[in-house]
Amino acid sequence: MGGPSLMTADIPRAVRSPVDPETLAQFSSSNGLYHCLFAEQFDRPIIERLIKLTDHLRALTKTKAGDDFVASVLSNKRAMLYFSQPSTRTFLSFQNACHILGMNTCEIRDPRTSSQMKGESFEDTIRTFASYVDLIIIRHFENGFAEHAARTLQGTHRPVPIINAGAGTYQHPTQALLDVYTMNRYLPGGIDGKTLMLVGDLQRGRTVRSLALMMRNYKDVRILFVSPPQFRMMPDILGALKDSGISYEETEDFEGALAQADTVYMTRVQDEHDTAGESRTVDIGRYCLRPEHLRFMKKSSIILHPLPRRDEIHPDVDADPRAAYWRQERNGLWTRAALMAVTLGIENILLERKA
Ligand code: NCD
Repeated sequence: MGGPSLMTADIPRAVRSPVDPETLAQFSSSNGLYHCLFAEQFDRPIIERLIKLTDHLRALTKTKAGDDFVASVLSNKRAMLYFSQPSTRTFLSFQNACHILGMNTCEIRDPRTSSQMKGESFEDTIRTFASYVDLIIIRHFENGFAEHAARTLQGTHRPVPIINAGAGTYQHPTQALLDVYTMNRYLPGGIDGKTLMLVGDLQRGRTVRSLALMMRNYKDVRILFVSPPQFRMMPDILGALKDSGISYEETEDFEGALAQADTVYMTRVQDEHDTAGESRTVDIGRYCLRPEHLRFMKKSSIILHPLPRRDEIHPDVDADPRAAYWRQERNGLWTRAALMAVTLGIENILLERKA
């Protein structure tokens, strides 16, 4: 039975990190960012610009007059959210960030409701989106989908920017951006010199891959990769860290790592990528944060999680002042607004307006 399929056979799947500088340059513009596809696109100056703009947006929108101003600047623009995988936070934070900036939004959350089911090609589908909107935000189960969309639009008469809101098991650059913003905001003295502990399914978690790459922008940082042997971080990321002189360690000693960490970053098992239920055979219970673990942790440390959580963080941990994941989730709203403001060229208009 050869009916239309949502799989796109021609999309390159062999996506390894780090992405080479020539590829990165193709997707950038004179202001540093155009398409946002990979964590490697965020260098330290861009991160610092985005942090500054995020803080400014938060300050500006504290008053009704400021909020109205921010919502006026892009009121002639429209954004599309194309999400072919489940999402709560990323979808809602992007959608609400668009609204903060005054953009209207439209969405496809189930590709089976699109003309792809009538056999329309992937390329024609993307060109159709670009006909109606000024920015496309994509979450997709295929690793190279957002990148391929960006390439497809190059050279067409409406090459609108693409933002990757989560690509298969590959990358989640805007999550890494909000994670970095959150660490910078709550760690005393910022991220330089700090130890980041990444816990859980490091093999298939796209958030930890992007975040590890982002750490290459910081001085004297150390990463502790804590996972069961079946879920170890992939060699491409370890190689990228090695080449950048970032020191890291792989360990199964959860409690020992907790005592050293400034940021404890928990993640869930990504069992949607199982081929035969193999996650069920992995003992993940040893890598769950419970109230009795809190005494091992530094007073000044923070606990993050991209969410959604299952058992990785016991709900009783939420009351600890170091639990920063709910604030992290909210930070996603503001960092995504700042990112889209840069992408659409209104950074200076916003910065010129006094809070
Ligand atoms: C993450 C994702 O989708 O990769 N969620 C998110 O975007 N906040 C993490 C996850 O689903 O485990």
